Amino acid sequence: MILGGSCTQSLAAALASELDEELALVDYERFPDGELKVNVGDVAPDRAVVVASTASSDAHVECLQLQDAAREAGASEVVTVVPYMGYARQDEAFTAGDPVSARAVARALSANTDRVLTVNPHETAVCEFFEPTATAVDAAGVLADPLPGDLGEPLFLAPDEGACDLAETVRDAYGHGDVDHFVKHRVSGDEVEITPSDATVAERDVVVVDDIVATGTTMSESIAVLRERDAASVSVATVHPLFAANAVTKLRRAGVSRIVGTDTLERPQSVVSVAPAIAEHL
Ligand code: R5P
Repeated sequence: MILGGSCTQSLAAALASELDEELALVDYERFPDGELKVNVGDVAPDRAVVVASTASSDAHVECLQLQDAAREAGASEVVTVVPYMGYARQDEAFTAGDPVSARAVARALSANTDRVLTVNPHETAVCEFFEPTATAVDAAGVLADPLPGDLGEPLFLAPDEGACDLAETVRDAYGHGDVDHFVKHRVSGDEVEITPSDATVAERDVVVVDDIVATGTTMSESIAVLRERDAASVSVATVHPLFAANAVTKLRRAGVSRIVGTDTLERPQSVVSVAPAIAEHL
């Protein structure tokens, strides 16, 4: 049985049909003081698969509640799928006195589950914060599916070195094209400096590939550079379309031609599903 979080309903449904498993009708309620309470109904699953991205603190609590409700309902196995793992980028204590937030949330999520899967975490090392170690599902290849088949001299570009593997995966899934990367220096939470490579981009269709678009700063700076260099078109492909605050506006103002994201987060740009990639591990 599949139990979806309130922010991950589409992916939970896609996974249910992919696996041909029942989709629980979960109620998401709040007490008058604002505290959350899920209700999974009168179910008695052997295996419960909780599918809940944790993009907010409420979503974290909801995921913990779904795990607990599954146990209460008598599930003998609880599998937790965290398609987008919030706090994963806080994977070390950056300054004295900081927590390792990714470890803290991973420990909480591990307490009431037999297994955890997550999709393209920012650093695979965060999987080791879970007990037992979480499985990192690589679903980036699906980002090639919505791209037009006739991109001209396509260049799959990572905005920083860390995203090179993703760019390569999308290029391989697309079938042809070059891969290159820029160099990024993060100045602050919403300010980055991009140093372009010397790759030729003029008259080419460029696809900028990254794991997450959060504030949109990384992408909008990259798009601006590519537009200045006369790229024919600039598409953005991201596994986790977080799009905080005015990120989409930033991308549009910078001149993006197309935005494609997956359904790890439910956004208008979530045009392709990671359900088949997750199903392979279930
Ligand atoms: C960090 O290196 C990640 O791969 C992304 O590039 C980053 O999270 C994007 O953040 P933003 O959209 O805020 O620039």
